[in-house]
Amino acid sequence: MDQGDSMRLSHFLTLQRGKSLFLPAHGRGKSLPNEIQSLLKGKPGVWDIPELPGFGAPTCFDGAVRDSQNKSAESLGAKKGWYGVNGATGLLQAALLAIAKPKDSVLMPRNVHKSIIHACVLGDINPIFFDLPFFDDRGHYFSPDYSWLKSVLEQIDRKIIKIAAVVITNPTYQGYSSDLKPLIKLIHSKGLPVLVDEAHGSYFSFSEGNKFPKSAISAGADLVVQSLHKSSIGLVQTAALWWQGRIVDPSIVDKSVALFQTTSTSSLLLASCEASITAWQTNKGRNRLRMIIKNAENISFKLRKAGLPILDNQDPLKLILHTSSVGINGINADSWFIDNGVVPELPEPGTITFCLGFSDHRGLISILKKKWNQLLSSNLDKDCYPPFPKPPFSLLACSEISCLSAFRAPSQMVTLDKADGRISSEMISPYPPGIPILLPGEKLDQERIDWMIYLRRFWPEQIPNEIMVVS
Ligand SMILES: Cc1ncc(COP(=O)(O)O)c(C=O)c1O
Repeated sequence: MDQGDSMRLSHFLTLQRGKSLFLPAHGRGKSLPNEIQSLLKGKPGVWDIPELPGFGAPTCFDGAVRDSQNKSAESLGAKKGWYGVNGATGLLQAALLAIAKPKDSVLMPRNVHKSIIHACVLGDINPIFFDLPFFDDRGHYFSPDYSWLKSVLEQIDRKIIKIAAVVITNPTYQGYSSDLKPLIKLIHSKGLPVLVDEAHGSYFSFSEGNKFPKSAISAGADLVVQSLHKSSIGLVQTAALWWQGRIVDPSIVDKSVALFQTTSTSSLLLASCEASITAWQTNKGRNRLRMIIKNAENISFKLRKAGLPILDNQDPLKLILHTSSVGINGINADSWFIDNGVVPELPEPGTITFCLGFSDHRGLISILKKKWNQLLSSNLDKDCYPPFPKPPFSLLACSEISCLSAFRAPSQMVTLDKADGRISSEMISPYPPGIPILLPGEKLDQERIDWMIYLRRFWPEQIPNEIMVVS
């Protein structure tokens, strides 16, 4: 097709999409920091510079970027920091490769983001999975608490599995969070480093002292990755990695960041990393954040009062609407909302999650009340779903062969119902949320197949009927 026949990408970007309750959290520019708005409104492209002397890049020894990273790290209580222009994805991968060597095993939760598994393939690292508490009324994992993690670590000790590091995802995409400090203390008592994927919780570290869960930095994590476009006001792809403590060698982190970094880091994105951190550190910024949180809590309170099934979580900027409680598949509800002028962030079988982000949402309460009532009236007589089946995982599990061997092995396609006993050579991971339900190297059994077939009813386009297995 001629390029002229289809919609040009630049035109696509200017389309109105309805009420945006999706990420990035700057709300289509509305809450971008003033200095980034001025840059973008000024002389077009003047800000697009390479790694000029004096400016530098995230892994340069000196320059404005290095200085800014140091200042940001210090302001958040970390010892060192790196900005990233390939999202939390790139920095999580760098961080994992900094704490684990090829063939090492790393303990990680079942709700780990798929970028971590990609890093396992790249670095020939073996994931050892621990299962998580599960809410069967909505089909979500919850974050582990101290006693949960303690039993996981006891099993590791009993089975004499040697692990090199632990990864924790906190908060989750839906805004669930647990008290990280005791978990990190427990992991440190075993002499192990902790990497926290705080992609969805950057702003927790700008609101210390509020009633929020503690940020991973203040809870003592050795490495913390934040997605600044998901949970602050950065442009898409902005992220940060923070280092502290005595267990991880920062020079290895530095080398590892360079492995995953373009040699032409976008100067606009680097400026956006800095601005999305400093914006909250002035009195005006702190007050603004307090107002944003207060308004979000008010939205949630009023919607509940009006009868909308909003679920409890620990992040006020994430509103989870429990659609399966009235018999509606969250993925269908998502399409319905989009067709009706409201664009959510995260559709799942039992829920949709709206991300309020950091912009003003005047009028949202009445819009959501009205839309919800319309959705209900077009879906009459639906009963609450039965409980979602618990994912068929034991408390601790490792793959049959390494992710890398499975990824590289000769493979063939088989239909799911014929895959019993076969080893997967691919990752199946509905996106969003990007939490893998099958990994390269895992052996399928009938229970897993039945569960995947069950999930396929909700996610037919994301979970294929045929999968690639090792020949
Ligand atoms: C828990 C979690 N970690 C990491 C990422 C990756 O973030 P980014 O899009 O900034 O690469 C995501 C993205 O959805 C996520 O949900």
